[in-house]
Amino acid sequence: MTHSDRADWWRGAAIYELYVQSFADAGGDGIGDLPGVRARLPHLADLGIDAIWYTPWYPSPRADAGYDVADYRSIDPAFGTLADADALITAGHRHGIKTIIDIVPNHCSDQHPWFQAALSAPPGSPERGRFWFRPGRGPGGDQPPNDWQSIFGGPAWTRTITPDGAPGEWYLHLFAPEQPDFNWASPEVRAEFEDILRFWFDRGADGVRIDSAALLTKDPRLPDFGPQDPSPYTDRDDVHDIYRAWRAVADQYPGRVLIGEIWLPDAARLASYLNELHTVFNFPYLCCPWDASQLRAVIDSTLELHAAAGAPATWVLSNHDVDRHVSRYGRADTSFALDRRDHSQPVDLALGTRRARAAALLTMALPGAVYIYQGEELGLWEVEDIPAQLRRDPIWYRTGGADPGRDGSRVPLPWSGPEPPFGFSPPDAAKPPWLPQPAAWRELTAEAETGEPDSMLELYRTALRIRRAEPALGDGHLSWLPAPDRVLAFDRGGVLCVANLSAAPVELPAHTEILLASGPLPDGQLPPDTAAWLRR
Ligand code: GLC
Repeated sequence: MTHSDRADWWRGAAIYELYVQSFADAGGDGIGDLPGVRARLPHLADLGIDAIWYTPWYPSPRADAGYDVADYRSIDPAFGTLADADALITAGHRHGIKTIIDIVPNHCSDQHPWFQAALSAPPGSPERGRFWFRPGRGPGGDQPPNDWQSIFGGPAWTRTITPDGAPGEWYLHLFAPEQPDFNWASPEVRAEFEDILRFWFDRGADGVRIDSAALLTKDPRLPDFGPQDPSPYTDRDDVHDIYRAWRAVADQYPGRVLIGEIWLPDAARLASYLNELHTVFNFPYLCCPWDASQLRAVIDSTLELHAAAGAPATWVLSNHDVDRHVSRYGRADTSFALDRRDHSQPVDLALGTRRARAAALLTMALPGAVYIYQGEELGLWEVEDIPAQLRRDPIWYRTGGADPGRDGSRVPLPWSGPEPPFGFSPPDAAKPPWLPQPAAWRELTAEAETGEPDSMLELYRTALRIRRAEPALGDGHLSWLPAPDRVLAFDRGGVLCVANLSAAPVELPAHTEILLASGPLPDGQLPPDTAAWLRR
């Protein structure tokens, strides 16, 4: 039985986050699509991943890049058809690649039929009961029902207009106004999502990434809250009831995995979700600066909490919501926080790339599952100079540009050729890529990097091949080895990983073979910002 045939394949999997609109455009409209993915599956099979997580592929007006879903059981016509999705799931399975879909349960699109029905229905109606509609405060009800702020900036409430044109009730949206929050106290909402899970599991989906998983339930009193108060909408105890029910659904389908997108600073609270979900994303690791003692502390607390829950850890360096790590690690401040994106710091791309190579080997050697965000295998950096008029992220608009937003991590992939669209779209494409690609990416195309022994792509291919072939890697245990200051060294049962985050070269621990290194090892020493895999 191969690793991917096992029901618990996800415990040590390498999972590729595929951002659909930026992966590959077969149709020539400048937007990635499912036939584009289908044509590039060999690239992914060759990379050596076990599963693809597709960001939302449903019909959507794309006020938040598809995280505003208008129909959870269909495919956006810009991406293809349900038949394309079925074919992709099947073709993936033929390549040994599983499919993870993205479910967005906190909110839908304002174009979703339920929200449209709610807008046409009167206050107090069952249609409005699936969302959070409330009268405003103050004279004429012209103040929002409470003081909650949208995570994307501005108030979390928008006022409706009644059919006769008068101002009406307000509705809650923790994100953009085009993303009304569902009321999870409604049994209809609960039943609907359990049915959506079954719909995709029945079509062959192997797992579900749960968007904004800690936000679903709200304090029904909808209280104002100050900085000292517990959040009335984040990580409430009753959200676990929802996932107990989801787990019961998933358990009827062997081998399926539930993955929570949960941003919580408190690692113990994060781990509490492992009572219901199989895994959660490890954002403390992503946010951690390039610093040996802080990384070691995050690794230790992650492993401890996951071991207590009997769940595998996950390791994530980048995704479509954060600055790409080549850029993060090339700045003076290498940490990351969602609410502190800062594109004013200079970036040393050579340094960032060297560290990203070392980080790749460190991350892929840790016990558990690893996530790879599309383009990190090419060494792409955060594109910080997208002209204002081409930006799409609601964060950028809703903060008046104070927060640069996430467009810079979402630029379409460069596949081949010397100039944009770099094979992302066909040569006769009607439109340019939906976000502009830097000319310098001519050196980072999959084509240019293939066969180049020092390229990021070949490093990822080799690392993933070794990771798959070595039973000691993936799921399992780690033991720390004695190491000099600011050096991380551990043993994975015969395979050693050592990463030098100090400023001087260090000796390698005793070994019989060098399996892989992220850079040259002059005089057999490990230079700064370099990592190696060794056989004991
Ligand atoms: C998640 C997604 C992000 C989206 C938000 C609202 O954090 O990863 O891209 O904007 O949820 O759905």
